[in-house]
Amino acid sequence: MKPQALFLLPPGWNALGADSFSSAVYDALLEGRDRYAPEAIDYFVGFRPPPGFLKSLPKLKAVISLGAGVDGFLQDPDYPKAVPLVRSVDPNLAIQMGEYVVMHALMIHRHQRFFDAAQAEHQWRQRMLTRNAADIRVGILGLGTIGAHIAAKLQAFDFQTLGWSRSRKEAPGVKSFAGAGELPAFLSQCDILVCVLPLTPDTRGILNSALFAQLPQGAYVINVARGAHLIEADLIAALDSGHLAGAVLDVFQTEPLPPDSPIWRHPKITATPHIAGITEPRSALAYVEDCIRRAEAGQPLPNVVNVARGY
Ligand code: GLV
Repeated sequence: MKPQALFLLPPGWNALGADSFSSAVYDALLEGRDRYAPEAIDYFVGFRPPPGFLKSLPKLKAVISLGAGVDGFLQDPDYPKAVPLVRSVDPNLAIQMGEYVVMHALMIHRHQRFFDAAQAEHQWRQRMLTRNAADIRVGILGLGTIGAHIAAKLQAFDFQTLGWSRSRKEAPGVKSFAGAGELPAFLSQCDILVCVLPLTPDTRGILNSALFAQLPQGAYVINVARGAHLIEADLIAALDSGHLAGAVLDVFQTEPLPPDSPIWRHPKITATPHIAGITEPRSALAYVEDCIRRAEAGQPLPNVVNVARGY
C-alpha cells in the first residue's frame, strides 16, 4: 500500500490538473477536494498551513515545505516539532531570485524609474551615469544557496558583492562578513542592500531605523525575503529623510499588501506581489516524490530544517 500525502496548495497552484499530483510513490490527497482520515496521512506537503492544522494529523512521518522559507510552519505554536520538516531547495527558485535582484540592481544603477517618469510626461530627459556597476557595492544579507547565487549573477554584471551571514560562509568573489560583530562593517559598505535572510526570532524586524542609519547615505534596500524582516514605517522615514534613495519590496508585513498602504504610492518604492521567486510546481512535485521515496526506503531526508535554529 502506498503512503498517503496530503497537499494543501498555495494560491496559484489551483490551475494544475488533478493528474499532476498522482505519483507511483504515494497517493495524493488534496485538502478541500478529497475526503481523508487525518490519522491515515503520512506526509504533509504545503506552504503556510493554518496554525494548528498539522497537529490534527497525528501520524505524520514528515512535512515537506513547498517554499524555501519555512517560517510559515515554525510560527505555528502547535507545530509538531518531532516531525522532520523538509524545506524546498529548488534551483529554479534561486535562478528567479537572481534575475529579480540583478534586474532591480541594474534599474537602480541605470536610473530606470527616472526615465519611466520622464516617459510618462513625454519628456526627453537625459541623465548621465556617474559611476559604473563596478563602483557599486551590493551587500547580501543571508549568504546561503540563494544569496550565493544572487552574488554570482551580480558579479556577471560587474557589481562588487559582499555578504553577511550568522555563521561564516564563503562564496566565490564575495567579501564575507559574519555574526553581529561584523554587521556594522558590512552595512557601512552596502550601496545596495539585498535581504534574503530566513525569518527567525533573531532576524524579525532586522531592517529597521538603526540598521538603515548604518548604510551609506543614498543607499537602496531590496527585500526579497519576508515582510516581517522590515519595519515598514522605519523604511518610509529613512526614505523621506533622504538618507535612503529607494527601496524595492517583494514581500510585506501584510500580504496581499492592503490597497490603502502608503507603500503603493511612495515615489521611492518599487513594490511587487511576492513574485521574486515562486516555487515551480513541476520541479517541486519531483522533489516531493524524491523525498517520500527516500523516507519510505529508510534513507535520510534532504534539507531537513533545524527547528531550534529556524532554517
Ligand atoms: C517563497 O517565499 C519561498 O519561501 O519559497
